[in-house]
Amino acid sequence: MKNLQPLIYVLLLSVLCLAEARIRHYRWEVKYEFKSPDCYRKLVITINGRSPGPTIRAQQGDTVIVDLKNSLLTENVAIHWHGIRQIGSPWADGTEGVSQCPILPGDTFRYMFVVDRVKNTKSVILLTTSLFSEFVDFYASMFLFEFVIINAGTYLYHAHYGMQREAGLYGSIRVALPTGEAEPFSYDYDRSIILNDWYHKSTYEQAAGLSSIPFVWVGDPQSLLIQGRGRFNCSTPGIATGFCNATNPECSPYVFTVVPGKTYRLRIGSLTALAALSFEIEGHNMTVVEADGHYVEPFVVNNLFIYSGETYSVLITANQDPSRNYWTVTKMVSRNNTTPNGLAIFNYYPNHPTKSPPTVPPSGPFWNDIEARVNQSLAIKSHPNYIHPVPQTSDRVIILLNTQNRINGSVKWSINNVSFTLPHTPYLVSLKENLLHTFEQAPPPDVINGYDNYDINAVAPNVNATSSNSLYRLKFNTTVDIILQNANTLNVNNSETHPWHLHGHDFWVVGYGRGKFNVSEDPKRYNLVNPIMKNTVPVHPYGWTALRFIADNPGVWAFHCHIESHFFMGMGAVFEEGIDKVANLPSSIMGCGDSKRFVKP
Ligand code: C2O
Ligand code: CU
Repeated sequence: MKNLQPLIYVLLLSVLCLAEARIRHYRWEVKYEFKSPDCYRKLVITINGRSPGPTIRAQQGDTVIVDLKNSLLTENVAIHWHGIRQIGSPWADGTEGVSQCPILPGDTFRYMFVVDRVKNTKSVILLTTSLFSEFVDFYASMFLFEFVIINAGTYLYHAHYGMQREAGLYGSIRVALPTGEAEPFSYDYDRSIILNDWYHKSTYEQAAGLSSIPFVWVGDPQSLLIQGRGRFNCSTPGIATGFCNATNPECSPYVFTVVPGKTYRLRIGSLTALAALSFEIEGHNMTVVEADGHYVEPFVVNNLFIYSGETYSVLITANQDPSRNYWTVTKMVSRNNTTPNGLAIFNYYPNHPTKSPPTVPPSGPFWNDIEARVNQSLAIKSHPNYIHPVPQTSDRVIILLNTQNRINGSVKWSINNVSFTLPHTPYLVSLKENLLHTFEQAPPPDVINGYDNYDINAVAPNVNATSSNSLYRLKFNTTVDIILQNANTLNVNNSETHPWHLHGHDFWVVGYGRGKFNVSEDPKRYNLVNPIMKNTVPVHPYGWTALRFIADNPGVWAFHCHIESHFFMGMGAVFEEGIDKVANLPSSIMGCGDSKRFVKP
């Protein structure tokens, strides 16, 4: 009889959720395959043979189940659902070291989540929690992920283990409104693309370089991919024969076919390892309508700047000369670089999809035009009819100074002089089960010692820092301000752009500024009227970005620079809130470090 229980829960769940709720069941197999996304053949991590992986399409209220089989043979895996807040299911966040142990080769992990409306959240959480533990008991070795999506919008998923994401393990999540609810804009068709940068060296070679002495930087990406397709110049000297084939269909450009006169919603996500990007469609304006799952007050751009971890929806009307095709261009900005622009074809039906546009592709903005990028950041405001009122005051202010440092001869990134390292036992298990010896207990500082005198415009006189896996503990339900303060790197006259991503929350972006944040003056200029909510936000060179969020999601949440190599070099932090309110953890997330003792036989 016990064996029927999970089934009964599933039935109950689907009946009680929502009348229109459906179950979306995905079966994914993750493995290495040879692929040539930019014509150059290398090992790529695929999902069901594809990279980018399948798009998850759901409607608010749907239950999504992903059965993930790890067929990497000798490599662990974990997948993070980027932008999904995991309310009531912090164990399903997919973040190795924070929310779970990695999934071992040969194991199958069941990811399951409910795409729901806010008003039904509570009942669903209770039900799915019991459902979860039942399944875990029942399927012993099966890895079950289960979570609730609150907002319609555009999200992403990607590996969250080591630097695995840039091996190709990523895709999009598209959540539609419930039937009968309308968006505050209209369009004829809906499309999703992911922008990415692409390296020919393996993630292992890159990771080894980053942690070796002397330090070996990953360098510029070899190409930029638009929906998994790019073009490396196969006649580049030094390419071994047989590795690069310019006529391989895998690297034929992505084609975006449009019918003249129609309007398209294009959902654009960036999951670059390093590059900040500009994206444009020759001769066509784009109206920005969504950012990270929130409606924005529409504004028109020629080119869109997009940072790793961000998503946008833009509207494009096919209103140009329909007798020809146009270029779609993505360009690496913010760092001086050698990476060629990525190209795709904006194809007017019925022209042949591969017919080359008669023009030279637009060359895009200058890489160092910081002002244009800051201006776009400032232009993103909440849509007037969808404002989530921001708390007018905060309970705690944490100023995070981003610096590049040296620790024992290695180059690292630090936050308040602490370079972040992940613990071996996931925090979620350690904190919930009181295994407090598994990570350093002294919390990192809310503001660095000597912040007032720190010169962000110069190389620090003392570039030493320490490594630590300590975390910030937030009081449940309090309002927290985070000031991300950028600074000069180890090189004179150099400061970089860092896209910071917060797990488990959307935050209000209350301000951006140049130079050093002034604790008494700058908060007076915060936008507390119509700030956009996002989950990823850039910190511009020599500038600061101020965020506000409510620590109301019980769990342990990573907050980090979304540049893969920067997080690897320590550019991150972790927040805990309301750990006592987290329901019993499924043993499927355990099995590594000290969490081994909780795995039931
Ligand atoms: Cu999209 Cu922690 O990452
Ligand atoms: Cu960074």
